[in-house]
Amino acid sequence: MSAKRIFSGIQPTGNLHLGNYLGAIRNWVRLQGDYQCLFCMVDLHAITVWQDPAELRRNTREVAAGMLASGIQPEKNILFNQSLVPAHAELAWIFNCVARMGWLGRMTQFKEKAGKHKENASVGLFAYPNLMAADILVYKATHVPVGEDQKQHLELTRDIALKFNSDYKTDFFPITEPLIFGAATRVMSLRDGTRKMSKSEESDYSRINMTDDADTIAQKIRKAKTDPDNMPATVENMESRPEASNLLGIYAALSDIDKEAAMRQFAGRQFSAFKQELVDLAVSVLGPINSEMKRLMDDPGHIDAVLRQGGEKARAMAEPILAQVYDIVGFLKP
Ligand code: TYM
Repeated sequence: MSAKRIFSGIQPTGNLHLGNYLGAIRNWVRLQGDYQCLFCMVDLHAITVWQDPAELRRNTREVAAGMLASGIQPEKNILFNQSLVPAHAELAWIFNCVARMGWLGRMTQFKEKAGKHKENASVGLFAYPNLMAADILVYKATHVPVGEDQKQHLELTRDIALKFNSDYKTDFFPITEPLIFGAATRVMSLRDGTRKMSKSEESDYSRINMTDDADTIAQKIRKAKTDPDNMPATVENMESRPEASNLLGIYAALSDIDKEAAMRQFAGRQFSAFKQELVDLAVSVLGPINSEMKRLMDDPGHIDAVLRQGGEKARAMAEPILAQVYDIVGFLKP
């Protein structure tokens, strides 16, 4: 076992989708054998925008089911929901006092989520990246596997660690490295190849959900936006056609080849033929995950027990680290 420690999180806000799977969860499954890993349903992050309590509980279980069904092994890793470990919120408070308003104001995710009505956004949404830094650093995690959209937040995590270390003249926190890999680090919407596939996009046809059955997956792929030309035959041509590029990236990731190889395989062919192969592939990968998720969701008690055990292990790891931080900061010992 190497000294690398991995932390990553996912918001239990519903509609777990192909972007979450290819950009994150599938990579986590591959890392779990080699490193000590913590995987977290970040329910504290979820409530930075309104969540119906019953839905939040259900979604937390569903995301956990998605991870288990994808092959995350709870015996080997620590799988839990964030609110079980108070140390995340406690360290986040300290980071609220380390991070600068200007740093947070530059976060593109905040700007996108708050939209034109910044004054109406919750304080939690603004301070969101500080909690994210706390998630990672409360375990002194060294590596964080994510999709490309989280890169800016991880840079902020590094800035917070550096400033804390420099303010308190210590080298306590590691400077974490993002791990962004695979052929689909940024899966785009099926309706618009220039927008990210996301849980919050209104049209369900913009994404493939991990809960979609085979017919729904087939329908969504057949309806996915394309352009009038045949499949691209050069990298330049592929990169200038966002929808073709996205679908090829998805194909490549699902079949574990690189995107150029996928392009060569379909060069010059009609989209309809390619789409049929993509449907078959997507259904063969996602179908078994989908049925396993359903099976797991029939037994919420089991999921809760897995998360509770993960929570216990996570608390045991986080508490001594937080105690050291309190000491560094100058709080009296309890
Ligand atoms: P979230 O819940 O939006 O997404 C979970 C993971 O899925 C990846 N992802 C994508 N990858 C490729 N293409 C897409 N279209 C796509 N959409 C989402 C995300 O990059 C992420 O890896 N802030 C985080 C959750 C978080 C976290 C953390 C992550 C909280 N604390 C600490 C890492 C470490 C988020 O909202 O992810």
